[in-house]
Amino acid sequence: MHVLLTGASSGIGEGMARVFAEAGWDLTLVARRRAELERVAASIEGRVRVNVVAADVAALDALDALVGAAEAELGPIDVLVNNAGVQIVAPTASVDPADGERLVTVNLLAPFRLTHAALARMIPRGRGTIVDISSLSALAPTPGMYHYSASKAALAAASESLRAEVRPRGVHVVTVYPGPIETPMARRAIDAYPEDPTRGLPVGDARTLAVRIRRAIERRHDRVIYPRAYGIARMFPGTTRWVMDHFSPTPRALPPAAG
Ligand SMILES: NC(=O)c1ccc[n+]([C@@H]2O[C@H](COP(=O)([O-])OP(=O)(O)OC[C@H]3O[C@@H](n4cnc5c(N)ncnc54)[C@H](OP(=O)(O)O)[C@@H]3O)[C@@H](O)[C@H]2O)c1
Repeated sequence: MHVLLTGASSGIGEGMARVFAEAGWDLTLVARRRAELERVAASIEGRVRVNVVAADVAALDALDALVGAAEAELGPIDVLVNNAGVQIVAPTASVDPADGERLVTVNLLAPFRLTHAALARMIPRGRGTIVDISSLSALAPTPGMYHYSASKAALAAASESLRAEVRPRGVHVVTVYPGPIETPMARRAIDAYPEDPTRGLPVGDARTLAVRIRRAIERRHDRVIYPRAYGIARMFPGTTRWVMDHFSPTPRALPPAAG
């Protein structure tokens, strides 16, 4: 089994790298920070074959070649995990539009390109799995996360729409909706608010989420919502919207740009 995993240098991606290695799955690990990827690879090497690829997924035109090179290195990709992501938490009017557009490129357009490249190889083989790491903010679009909520809702919609289309071709799609998970991204998001917005709410950990994703791949489950309590957002979208509209905290303004 060969898994191409983006965003493997930190947080949830790092958790998946470890948990997938424990299952004996070979890994192509992608992120920008080579040193962090090497650190993750060093902690799992020996158990499985690991291919470290330092790349910026925002370089969309390079992604098809990245997938081809990964297959040349470790063989056909059985699982693509679209996990790399960035987040902006700030009053929307204060966000530089170029930063918002870059977020959409990383969180949405890169998964589109990688999925396209993977499907072109998986469909002729009649097998493969695409895993899309969306977010609870796709089910509960969040004030102060304008671009992020949009990118994750669009990724979830794309992922859910793809499943039935490619199932007859042997390709499985898993859509993942993590709630707050203790990672560097979540820490930065919490720090953007005057008070911790997750206080009193369920917060998950990367390892448990990674185990659930591995199980979803193995058992061909359609989606993962973790912590599980947030499944309520999917069951009751109208009530969720009302709660978000009336009780969401407001993030602090971004510090003024330097220079
Ligand atoms: N933590 C949460 O509460 C939470 C909740 C819902 C959804 N998610 C989603 O889960 C995924 C992982 O998030 P995390 O919490 O683990 O965050 P994280 O610790 O900040 O990790 C993000 C990963 O994405 C990589 N990345 C970012 N921009 C990239 C780029 N342009 N090219 C290649 N790699 C890039 C980072 O690596 P480099 O910096 O080395 O490039 C890093 O490995 C994201 O898609 C996030 O939106 C997280």
